Amino acid sequence: MINITSRRKIEHLKICATNSVESQNVSAGFEDVTLIHRALPELDMDKLDLSVDFLGKRLQAPFLIASITGGHPDTVQVNASLASAAEELGVGIGVGSQRAAIDDPSQEESFRIVRDKAPDAFIYGNVGAAQIRKYGVDGLEKLVEMIDADALAIQLNFVQEAIQPEGDKDATGCLDMIREICSVLNTPVIIKETGAGISREDALLLQKAGVSAIDVGGAGGTSWAGVEVYRARESGDSISEHLGELFWDFGIPTVASIIESRVSLPIIATGGVRTGLDIAKSLALGASAASAALPFVGPALEGKEAVVSVLSRMLAEFRAAMFLCGCANIKDMHNAAVVVTGWTLEYLEQRGFNVKDYAMSRETF
Ligand SMILES: Cc1cc2nc3c(=O)[nH]c(=O)nc-3n(C[C@H](O)[C@H](O)[C@H](O)COP(=O)(O)O)c2cc1C
Repeated sequence: MINITSRRKIEHLKICATNSVESQNVSAGFEDVTLIHRALPELDMDKLDLSVDFLGKRLQAPFLIASITGGHPDTVQVNASLASAAEELGVGIGVGSQRAAIDDPSQEESFRIVRDKAPDAFIYGNVGAAQIRKYGVDGLEKLVEMIDADALAIQLNFVQEAIQPEGDKDATGCLDMIREICSVLNTPVIIKETGAGISREDALLLQKAGVSAIDVGGAGGTSWAGVEVYRARESGDSISEHLGELFWDFGIPTVASIIESRVSLPIIATGGVRTGLDIAKSLALGASAASAALPFVGPALEGKEAVVSVLSRMLAEFRAAMFLCGCANIKDMHNAAVVVTGWTLEYLEQRGFNVKDYAMSRETF
């Protein structure tokens, strides 16, 4: 018998593969970021070093396939395709929420396959913040062991929880629990938003709580409010449909959130990252790595080669961007000159960020 959590995994995959689920009137903000072209790069594009250390492991490029799935028998093949592609190209990968495997251990295989197919890759586990109180530290250790994870992402998705009729709407005690987990778990903890971004205020709280990295998961890419609209229409739930439509574009766009989250922690830029140019801009703004989910959903349903093809294209774009900015390695990319204009500049000024000072002193963690 397939339980509700498990069934929802397939619904999400299908909705994202066949419908428009991205932000509608808000962009991630990459069009407001200009990398300064170097007409004389003085580099051989084929000899650039894209590799980087991330939370204790070497990546061949500063990129991760963001958490997508697992937890239903049909997701085994999807995760196998994603993981084999990540292993082949030397990037990291996150699994989807492991909740389904706690509720039903027979679903563990759909997560374990990721480590089987990517024995050397940086892999992060995944659990919702709403669940951490229930599972406790022992439960979370099990999630890490299940896939021999290099890190555990605790996913913040209160926009979705607020809209889903079955959503967990009690967010009290979440920060205390994160603090406790960070102090006892022997694995780095990543706090991961899923489409509404992280503010400066929350980044500072998370840093104090002892997290190892922040995945900004900003607005401008996949909208979970949007995904819920499709589910609500299917089930005839008019309140959830209305809430999903109202909050479809809610949140801090990714570019703004990268700058909001610049405390002294590694940042993963996620949410509407669609090209290698977006990866380059994210790194120039201070992110340590970038990640994306939606561009891999359709390809993963086709098979490994389709994922490799999309991933290779993004990394080739990133290599070209590095070359054209005169960057021989990732350290150079972090120091590349960048200008922020338009809506994002106005937003940052109103939030009290001195973008010029910021652009002059970019230390990356
Ligand atoms: C089909 C699908 C399933 C997802 N499932 C999860 C999940 O289980 N846990 C999680 O933390 N994020 C999940 N995400 C969110 C992504 O990891 C990512 O934060 C978000 O989609 C924004 O990136 P994008 O604009 O590149 O899609 C999922 C995304 C998609 C498209």
